[in-house]
Amino acid sequence: MDKIFNLIKQEERYQNSTIRLIPSENFTSEAVKKCLASDLTNKYAEGYPGKRYYQGNKIVDEIENLAIERGKKIFGVEHLNVQPYSGSPANSAVLMALLEPGDKICGMKLSAGGHLTHGHPKITFSGKYFESVQYDVNEEGRINYEELANFVKKEKPKLIFAGTTAYPWILDWKKFGEIADSVGAWLVADISHIAGLIVGEVHPSPVDYVHIITSTTHKSLRGPRGAIIGVTKKGIEKDIDLVKKIDRAVFPGLQGGPHMNNIAAMAVAFEEANGEEFRKYAQQIIVNAKALAESLKSKGLKVFGTENHLMVVDCGMGRGKEVAIKLEENGIIVNANTIPHDEAGPLKPSGIRLGTPAMTTKGYVERDFEALGVKIAELIKE
Ligand SMILES: Cc1ncc(COP(=O)(O)O)c(C=O)c1O
Repeated sequence: MDKIFNLIKQEERYQNSTIRLIPSENFTSEAVKKCLASDLTNKYAEGYPGKRYYQGNKIVDEIENLAIERGKKIFGVEHLNVQPYSGSPANSAVLMALLEPGDKICGMKLSAGGHLTHGHPKITFSGKYFESVQYDVNEEGRINYEELANFVKKEKPKLIFAGTTAYPWILDWKKFGEIADSVGAWLVADISHIAGLIVGEVHPSPVDYVHIITSTTHKSLRGPRGAIIGVTKKGIEKDIDLVKKIDRAVFPGLQGGPHMNNIAAMAVAFEEANGEEFRKYAQQIIVNAKALAESLKSKGLKVFGTENHLMVVDCGMGRGKEVAIKLEENGIIVNANTIPHDEAGPLKPSGIRLGTPAMTTKGYVERDFEALGVKIAELIKE
């Protein structure tokens, strides 16, 4: 047998015998994995349902239409594109659809919990081909919306990203909406991290306040790797051609043939996320995150958060990586992360980021996370 299959088996055992606290990871269902490993991976289907460039796409048209219909329902958007290969291409497609190179964009700083694709300077597509201005968080790690409003009025960006990778608080979509509207900017909610929480109704939805949503499907939503771009009613009111612009930017603007196995897996995941069982899962993610944060705090640690699925823990100046390695040696998988205003800098961050979606899928409840908090605190202090 190819060595690869042996390695896959090893990875499977490793994932199932360790405690996975990376907030962007999860365990998908067997049904999702079945779609990913299906004959759909053989397909070429450039274009959109009913408008393909190759013959032989009758069945995959049905699959993509189902994914779109189910996704529109759970996200509550007017239009959904399910073809982006992942979160980064989805955000790039939005930039391509709405802006010209050199236009000004605004996003949260990476060090504050933003994402690379939201205008991280110099080294990224979004920071290199657009003029990027970035906002920070306060000492507590929260967005100061008044300061953001003044910043946006001064800078007048054409597009604002509202979305985060390491932000433990609820996002105030209404305020983001007012801020973007004050300068006529496009507002894009990148809900990659919190999609499962929004669909599970434990975090407010941005749909009434933004023009576009982007999201990966593989984090708290528990689907396959992939992404969506949704267009809201407010978006279509701002530009009647918005749907066309988004679809054209994804294909042929940025991508070629869609990955139909992923799209089928998305359709399955959207159905799994639609209902009471998933709502209970989302509620448990939150309860578990609070239990973990309180447990760490009770042991004297400084914890940023939490109101959602994740938190950032201060491990002491520049100690994030060292602690993450020590936890890995003890079967607990996390990532080093900057804390707000980290004096040690991004290359030697002072914190670790912990999240509860994956272990909640595995059946962990509050008492498991309380015990885990005690163990993590001991390892941090050693
Ligand atoms: C907020 C946010 N946007 C975009 C992405 C990019 O997604 P991907 O890694 O699938 O390209 C991530 C991934 O961590 C993210 O957290």
